[in-house]
Amino acid sequence: MPPTHDPSSAAPPEAVTPLLRGADVLRRLTDAGGRMPVGELERAAGLARSTVDRITATLSRMGYVRVEGRDVVLAPRLLELGNAYLASVRLPDLLGGLADGLADALDESVSLAVADGDGIRFVHQATRRRAMSVSFRIGDLLPAERTAPGALFASEWNDGVWARWRERRAVDPGELGFPAVPRGTAGSGDFERRVEEARERGWAVDDQLIEPGLVALSVPVRGPAGRIVCVLSAVSHSSRHDAGSLPEVLLPRLREAAAGMERVLREAPPAPPAAPAAAAGLASWTGASKQELGREFVESLARGLTVLTAFGEGRETLPLTAVAEATGLARATARRALITLEHLGCVAVDGRAFRLTPRVLSLGFPPLSRTTLTRIAQPHLAELAARVRESTSLAVLVGDEVQYTGRVETSRIMNVHITIGTRFPAYATSMGRVLLAGLAPEARAELLARTEPAALTPYTVTGRAELAALLEEVGRQGYALVDEELEVGLRSIALPVRDRAGRVVAAVNVALHSARRSREECVADVLPELARAIDGIEADLHVTERFARVPAY
Ligand code: PHB
Repeated sequence: MPPTHDPSSAAPPEAVTPLLRGADVLRRLTDAGGRMPVGELERAAGLARSTVDRITATLSRMGYVRVEGRDVVLAPRLLELGNAYLASVRLPDLLGGLADGLADALDESVSLAVADGDGIRFVHQATRRRAMSVSFRIGDLLPAERTAPGALFASEWNDGVWARWRERRAVDPGELGFPAVPRGTAGSGDFERRVEEARERGWAVDDQLIEPGLVALSVPVRGPAGRIVCVLSAVSHSSRHDAGSLPEVLLPRLREAAAGMERVLREAPPAPPAAPAAAAGLASWTGASKQELGREFVESLARGLTVLTAFGEGRETLPLTAVAEATGLARATARRALITLEHLGCVAVDGRAFRLTPRVLSLGFPPLSRTTLTRIAQPHLAELAARVRESTSLAVLVGDEVQYTGRVETSRIMNVHITIGTRFPAYATSMGRVLLAGLAPEARAELLARTEPAALTPYTVTGRAELAALLEEVGRQGYALVDEELEVGLRSIALPVRDRAGRVVAAVNVALHSARRSREECVADVLPELARAIDGIEADLHVTERFARVPAY
């Protein structure tokens, strides 16, 4: 397997150069935490500025990056590539709930990791928020010898993997190929001995190998064929457990959970093939993009990355023909893309069947999967504010109040002073009304019953029955428009943000001085722009939530 950062290392002659370069750019951005100045990217990737610009323009057209001033920033849509891998292997879908349940039962963080060459990569994290320790993200890669799962996976390594492991240790003693490793830490102990122990016992511990204070206990989860498909770990802190007490206290429950997971893997019916995420109209989409952007759009890069989305649920292994069909690409084009992706370590081939590898997660997953709704919404709020030339905000419901979690201000025409964290009574605000309208009927009635609406202005609706009727109407029409009920002269219009399951999780508004736009103008001119911003936020939220938990802020 080639080292992460040498895209040119003996690429096969059929390899698609723009795809090699584009993937390298995405990995560098990922390793840098999701953002890099374009000049730095140019130097790091060793490419001409014009080449970086074309790659960036193409990735930006795909929704995979954004350009913010001088920075290139990874964008949530890129997660569709890692999602294709995770959906295709099904591990988080089948086992994630059991891992979450174990984390609740133990009140410790629990993770699932798979083997990636001579490293381990996390595919699920059920994290307890605790001070004092790092927590790794979905997609993070760690050297096998610095972890407990690594010792278990290495018990199945053949001579080839051991040779690669020795070579990597020799050429990369500083572990630069593993950006998730906490810096300034060292020590892998006697790995070969620990691998032997892990093989004999069927479990392994990490006694502060990866991070001072972090202790972990791991057990294998075997597939129906008897091979380890992933490793289940419970992670604790040396202040609660040491390497001796950890197995004593946690091993029985960890083993029980692993046995449950093995049962699920044995008994799960095959996944019904989902429609590939790849746009069936890829050919026409790339054609139109080419027309529009000309030289700036690199079709072979766009096509090559899209090949990854041909895989997914019920589509774990695909022959070339199926990849070509799902993407609408000519067989020869799909074949060259697959050969390139195989060289990059993102695709593996068994006979005629291609499948994705965990390395697909190195294309953006760690920084993009650990985010918040507020961060996801921010660029959309900025765009909306610029289009309507008014301030816009994001808020969530906390008790019977709305709490602002995001805001883009264009002017300070209002007296109300709003900052992140500001709370207002939900009943008197447009965001509050869409949030209340999104509650289940019983919850809404209960909340209204314990609210004592106060007249904040002469126009505030304070009657409970009247408010209930207004919320019904908001539910029907989908938006809320509130006039001078919070402050005289302030008009605002809001729409809800829904998660993948369709639940209302937040609201976005545009607030303006009532002299600037009439109610009718708000509905005719502002509402469509607001709806566009909501579409953008929801698309990003849904692709992020597929395998990651997204807190509000
Ligand atoms: C984890 O963060 O889940 C983790 C870290 C180190 C290990 C095992 C698991 O050795």
